[in-house]
Amino acid sequence: MIDGTKIAIVGAGRVGSTLAYTLATAGLVRTIVLIDADRGRAEGETMDIAHSVSFHAPVTVVAGELADTAGAAITVIAAGAAQQAGESRPALLQRNVGILRDIVPAVVQANPKGMIIIAANPVDALTYAALRLSGLPSARVFGSGTVLDTARLRAELAAHCHVDARNVHAYVLGEHGDSEFVAWSIASAANVPLREFCRLTGISCTNEDMTAIAQRVRDAAYEIIRRKGGTNFAIAASLTRIIESVVRDEASVLTVSTLVEQHYGIQRICLSLPTIVDCAGARRILPIQLSEDEVGRLRNSAEAVRTTAAQAGI
Ligand code: LAC
Repeated sequence: MIDGTKIAIVGAGRVGSTLAYTLATAGLVRTIVLIDADRGRAEGETMDIAHSVSFHAPVTVVAGELADTAGAAITVIAAGAAQQAGESRPALLQRNVGILRDIVPAVVQANPKGMIIIAANPVDALTYAALRLSGLPSARVFGSGTVLDTARLRAELAAHCHVDARNVHAYVLGEHGDSEFVAWSIASAANVPLREFCRLTGISCTNEDMTAIAQRVRDAAYEIIRRKGGTNFAIAASLTRIIESVVRDEASVLTVSTLVEQHYGIQRICLSLPTIVDCAGARRILPIQLSEDEVGRLRNSAEAVRTTAAQAGI
């Protein structure tokens, strides 16, 4: 067997199967194991993905069982109920924490040295639950968090400012959910503070503009689910970006959901803050300067997640 990075994905639904395909075409890993309670579904998805292999770098994509997470650098847990139209993410908690109780111990037993990334919702509360269930160091159990929301924000700002999204830097922080917020105080375009960029380029940048953008980002999942029944492409791209920073040891700064222990006066809950992600996982939260209002929003978000997590009884 050729050496190379192995990634395991638990859950062959919209997100898990799209992630498997996105990873397969990204040339990042050598082996992808897709696991699902419905073995036939996992086999069908991996057979279909494997047939694209002549169009990209060699990669082995197979169906497996939880024991096949052994040797994986990362196990992504995407298994669980997904939001239905109009349903909030916290409403999924009891169903999905029950699934975690089955999956996490089996993954840790098969792969005690591996990393776990949570991609099911409510992702912050489930990340905290997975951390507790696993007994692993917090660097090695984290969630996709607001990496997706931050990507949505950068796309919205790029369109608003008529500039490449790769030249827009801004963060959505806190809960991946209704209490999330945009850290406008540190938003920039072309390395220029956002409001200054808009002034320089004659683009409107009123509070109303920013509020509308933040609302569209916060409501994006509801709007997409209402139209197509779920989301998968941007979350799969977000997870692939996180995996890339781990497997290539890039030390990229990503707003993954990780255990916050003392920053901003917040105690022991999982939230999204700018975090250095490298071969060790969620290595270090960057204690960036936020405005007083933003710190207040972050603490409010922490309480929202804590309230949800408390219902998990973990
Ligand atoms: C979304 C799901 C992944 O925001 O929570 O699309």
